[in-house]
Amino acid sequence: MSFSRSQSRVQVPAALAASQDGDAWRAWTAALPALAKEFLDRWSLRLDGPPAHGAVALVLPVLQAEGPPAVLKLQPVDEETQGEPLALRVWGARHAVALLDSAPDSGVMLLERLDAARSLATVSDGTAALERLSELLAQLAAVPAPAGLRLLSDIARAMIDRVPTYSRSLADPSERRLLATCAAAVRELLDEPGDRLLHWDLHYDNVLAPLPSSQVAGRAPWLAIDPKPLAGDPAFELLPALRNRWDDVITAADVSRAIRHRFHLMTEVIGLDRERAAGWTLGRVLQNCLWDIEDGAVTLQPEQTAIARALLDP
Ligand SMILES: Nc1ncnc2c1ncn2[C@@H]1O[C@H](COP(=O)(O)OP(=O)(O)O)[C@@H](O)[C@H]1O
Ligand SMILES: [Mg+2]
Repeated sequence: MSFSRSQSRVQVPAALAASQDGDAWRAWTAALPALAKEFLDRWSLRLDGPPAHGAVALVLPVLQAEGPPAVLKLQPVDEETQGEPLALRVWGARHAVALLDSAPDSGVMLLERLDAARSLATVSDGTAALERLSELLAQLAAVPAPAGLRLLSDIARAMIDRVPTYSRSLADPSERRLLATCAAAVRELLDEPGDRLLHWDLHYDNVLAPLPSSQVAGRAPWLAIDPKPLAGDPAFELLPALRNRWDDVITAADVSRAIRHRFHLMTEVIGLDRERAAGWTLGRVLQNCLWDIEDGAVTLQPEQTAIARALLDP
């Protein structure tokens, strides 16, 4: 059977183009159609449906000349994204999407196609969804990190160093104190930063079911996509899921209790020491808060302070 390489031009979805500001982003999105064309040709791929995207990546459903349905994922190369192909290779396909090919310097990967209509976000029972995500985190964190990834120890030290200067931007003294408390909790954990392969961004949209055709015996029913990997303690992994479906938390009669319920469920299923998990989660709150301050914030996001206060007041 002859395989046609003719392609219609790849269109960058307007929402992806508008998802970030700045010249570097504009230049990257402008170059995306040519980059996609280059890799469609290089890997003998044919477009097979409308593109998907998150806040960063363009994901094109494709057919290979031979082999199962796939997607071509294109994203800018930066310190968060550059470890993705390595992490997926090390995890293998059992608990994460299979990596079929990659061009790490270009930020382009060929991935097994999963069922994008079935993410953990579609599991309406909140407890069941959180249990499935936690089981997956436990499996992913069973794997030691390979050399070459960014280290939680470096990230943690850099955060602590920035706190004195950054907290001066905060208008409310109680928020300045909260930032200092988070930094103190992280400082206590610095001599044991962990050595596991961490995903860093495991929320419900980043967990997909395999296509029925690729579900084989022994394979997990839910698979991780989109890691921004680092080496460290799995206790640093909880925040994205604590924040998922935030409306369910803030409409609870007791917000702190609802947060702690999630935290206890996750630490139980993953098998984490609660005190360490609280400390590293405060570290993750700190990371988000410092980013916000860097972007000009003078107050902290209520969800960040709510999570921190719930964990400090057990
Ligand atoms: N392997 C895959 N199979 C099917 N759809 C995918 C796959 N990987 C990503 N997608 C779709 O593309 C979206 C964005 O991809 P993702 O890797 O999460 O990038 P981002 O960093 O932009 O969130 C996902 O939410 C999902 O809908
Ligand atoms: Mg994503």
